[in-house]
Amino acid sequence: MKILVTGGAGFIGGNFVHYMLREHPEDEILCVDALTYAGNMETLAPVMDNPHFKFIKADIADRETIYAIFEQEKPEVIVNFAAESHVDRSIENPAIFLQTNVMGTQVLLDACRKYGIQRYHQVSTDEVYGDLPLDRPDLFFTEETPIHTSSPYSASKASADLLVQAYHRTFGVPVTISRCSNNYGPYHFPEKLIPLMIANVLNDKPLPVYGDGKNVRDWLYVEDHCSAIDLIIRNGRVGEVYNVGGHNEKTNLEVVQLIIATLGKGEIQFVRDRAGHDRRYAIDPTKIHNELGWLPKTKFEDGIQKTIQWYLDNKPWWENIISGEYQNYYERMYGNR
Ligand SMILES: NC(=O)c1ccc[n+]([C@@H]2O[C@H](COP(=O)([O-])OP(=O)(O)OC[C@H]3O[C@@H](n4cnc5c(N)ncnc54)[C@H](O)[C@@H]3O)[C@@H](O)[C@H]2O)c1
Repeated sequence: MKILVTGGAGFIGGNFVHYMLREHPEDEILCVDALTYAGNMETLAPVMDNPHFKFIKADIADRETIYAIFEQEKPEVIVNFAAESHVDRSIENPAIFLQTNVMGTQVLLDACRKYGIQRYHQVSTDEVYGDLPLDRPDLFFTEETPIHTSSPYSASKASADLLVQAYHRTFGVPVTISRCSNNYGPYHFPEKLIPLMIANVLNDKPLPVYGDGKNVRDWLYVEDHCSAIDLIIRNGRVGEVYNVGGHNEKTNLEVVQLIIATLGKGEIQFVRDRAGHDRRYAIDPTKIHNELGWLPKTKFEDGIQKTIQWYLDNKPWWENIISGEYQNYYERMYGNR
């Protein structure tokens, strides 16, 4: 199979590239990434010499370039990870989220129509379902839960999902969608909770926790997300949505306390809450388990140890990121809260 992976220089896309080249050495992987602040060629450095891997720098919303790539490379399967992905940034500046997450998705879908493909897979998020109350632990998101978004980020991802489903219904594009809970693991950009806390502990900086820290997220080790997508593109039913999550619910405070306990130091600093902050996400993964036999392999307690060790072993990767422009962003986000 020739698989076009968009956003492969980012966190999950990068892990997916590594996963696929390891698990399916017969496949060819073509990565298209615009290399925004979140894209990092260091993430792809270990595979750049692999003859089954090719990288092209391009914006998924650039129609002419994307059409040229489809024409020349003739990908059979598209897995679209490319997105603006950080909720805080979407509150600061929603426009780029609509441009990449919605218009970029449309360009890819148009290219699929024009050139023909076997499968288009949209990597979506549980955030399209909104949030659940903290006092109803019996409630979970299923694929039937109505779309009910909170942030410009989740609204843009939900819009893209609707567009993907419309291109299937109206034009017959063979699509699938996965909606996954929060991922963690290697190559995670240090603006997100877990890598931010690890980097701050290692740099002796306070650990900024939003509000009361009681917001609940359902954490999935990134490789388990990759294995779910791999199963969906091979065996998933066209036109279907699959929720992906591992029943690993933790409050933000619990996660931060676990990192402090593991590293043996760290000082929490509660900061003003994020506007519109979702309280609880929790995925019901029954469908992907029953239909495709998917189960997560990594328990949170093991995954977090592996992740912390990766950040200890790969300091240059994240130290490069948190120098320079990222400092200005960090000050805007946490400086005066
Ligand atoms: N991180 C999570 O916990 C999580 C959970 C569920 C779903 N998702 C979804 O998974 C996908 C990947 O998330 P991530 O955390 O790896 O994001 P990320 O921000 O780490 O990476 C995004 C990548 O997309 C690239 N990109 C951005 N705009 C682009 C454009 N216009 N054209 C081409 N490339 C572009 C960036 O350069 C970067 O390499 C996203 O679609 C996100 O919505 C993420």
